[in-house]
Amino acid sequence: MQRTQVVIIGAGPSGLMLSLLLERQGIDSIVLERQSRPYVEARIRAGLLEWDTVELLEQAGIGPRMRREGLVHDGFELAFGGGHHRIDLKGLAGKSMLVYGQTEIQKDLADERERRPGAVVWEAAEVRLHDFAGDAPRVSYRHAGASHEIRCDFIAGCDGYHGISRASVPRDALREYERVYPFGWLGVLADVPPLSEELVYANHARGFALCSMRSKSRVRYYVQCPLQDTVEQWPDERFFDELAARLPPPHAARMVRGPSIEKSIAPLRSFVTEPMRFGRLFLAGDAAHIVPPTGAKGLNLAAADVRVLTEGLVAHYRERSSGLLAEYSARALSRVWKATRFSWWFTTLMHRFSEDPFEHKLQLAELEYLADSTVACTGVAENYVGLPFTAG
Ligand code: APR
Ligand code: PHB
Repeated sequence: MQRTQVVIIGAGPSGLMLSLLLERQGIDSIVLERQSRPYVEARIRAGLLEWDTVELLEQAGIGPRMRREGLVHDGFELAFGGGHHRIDLKGLAGKSMLVYGQTEIQKDLADERERRPGAVVWEAAEVRLHDFAGDAPRVSYRHAGASHEIRCDFIAGCDGYHGISRASVPRDALREYERVYPFGWLGVLADVPPLSEELVYANHARGFALCSMRSKSRVRYYVQCPLQDTVEQWPDERFFDELAARLPPPHAARMVRGPSIEKSIAPLRSFVTEPMRFGRLFLAGDAAHIVPPTGAKGLNLAAADVRVLTEGLVAHYRERSSGLLAEYSARALSRVWKATRFSWWFTTLMHRFSEDPFEHKLQLAELEYLADSTVACTGVAENYVGLPFTAG
């Protein structure tokens, strides 16, 4: 029977970040991941970081490549009614964002984590959580045909929306809140130069569009599409035609087309679980909450959970004080709900929900108000760059 201080379920960004941050504080952990490393790294996800997330990733030890290859953005554009308006993040909220793909973050975290052999068990099958309501939690799993069990003080459920951790909690002990949006995002990755220095979020009668990037020679473009659509129905030509149709003509004129190297459709959902702690089990990241990608809050919220959980565990082991751990769920959820609200608001403002022209007129009126009001833009900027952390 193995023993460690914290067993972490899931080697996505939350699990690996937590394991590295704990190690830097002298706290031992073992990460159990169901999939292989190449499988986890092959997932295409977003790539826009709040500065607090950049600093936390640096504390976890993955600064150099991120700083070298990441793109600093001090603002973004809203395109609507044939025109556009820039939100000056640096000027209005005093903070920048960093464009650096989650796939790269996943690679850097796994490289850093694997510098200590045995810290991650890849392809750990049948992970099961035991006795986390009591004082002696255990986690069992199968690996390479053998059964294993680890005794620990705490379990961190960082295993995403479909993970075993939240599913292991008695149904009546948690409350789930959900909003499913009636459309999807068709995303394309292509090695062409971006049509704009900064991100462009477009509201159009034909539906939403987003022009993002991974580097100065690789773009990540999205268009809102019906959930029933398949990628086969969207050959590259149709995708770029539709994107061009939803952008102001000067933006569309600058768009360079190229063959897609990845194309996929993702559903949009807002989901929150309360509470985020059950006895000695703590949920973090997608295991506890999902936001629609519009506000790029998914990874940043996961990092925020990990930051608050690390503070609690360090206080527990270093000062033998359980106060911060006891506050983990409330502190994490206060930020989760604000980011959930912002992501819902931005999704509602920028997407087409129905044929109703009144609805689109309201969206345009709100966007025009934003373009005219520094106060309103400051509110957007504050939420976009990430709200300040509430002290424990
Ligand atoms: N046993 C072990 N590992 C599991 C299990 C299980 N039963 N179920 C899931 N996992 C693993 C998954 O294979 C995955 O690698 O847990 C990991 C969870 O990782 P993510 O889904 O990436 O979740 P998280 O680390 O919280 O990252 C959140 O990812 O989806 C984006 O937008 C989201 O950016 C956010 C970030
Ligand atoms: C991305 O680069 O994939 C991206 C950026 C911003 C978003 C969503 C996705 O809001």
